[in-house]
Amino acid sequence: MRFLLNARRVTFDGDPQTPLLWVVREHFKLTGTKFGCGIGMCGACTVHVDGAPMRSCSVAVKAVDGKQVTTIEGLSRDRSHPIQRAWIDKDVPQCGYCQSGMIMSAAALLKSNPTPTDEQIDQAMTNLCRCATYHRIREAIHGAAAGK
Ligand code: FES
Ligand code: FES
Repeated sequence: MRFLLNARRVTFDGDPQTPLLWVVREHFKLTGTKFGCGIGMCGACTVHVDGAPMRSCSVAVKAVDGKQVTTIEGLSRDRSHPIQRAWIDKDVPQCGYCQSGMIMSAAALLKSNPTPTDEQIDQAMTNLCRCATYHRIREAIHGAAAGK
């Protein structure tokens, strides 16, 4: 399989059924993407595939052949993405484990809907946070939408 990983051309010659999560973490050593549930429920493993949020634990690497994959490491070079800036501004994370997935989901949401309502945020952000940072996540998304 050949694909773009954070704008870099990469090749993976292993089992095509390998979950993208493990290819990203174990083969390419990009450990910002986290393993939570492994069954597509928690969103800790969220990456973008051709710009759309995907739960990489539930995507076989063969499905991204020829596509563009972006992980948290590739969202910006210097944490300057509006969502990253808002996350820092609102001091969103607690333990942090879910947060790269949250940021990737939020970045995809703002791309498709630059000014989401609370309801739209709740509908789009189905990721789980055991530290219950949901309130700050919502504030940060509004902050990024407002350009703060
Ligand atoms: S680890 Fe992929 S959704 Fe939970
Ligand atoms: S910040 Fe701890 S799980 Fe979300």
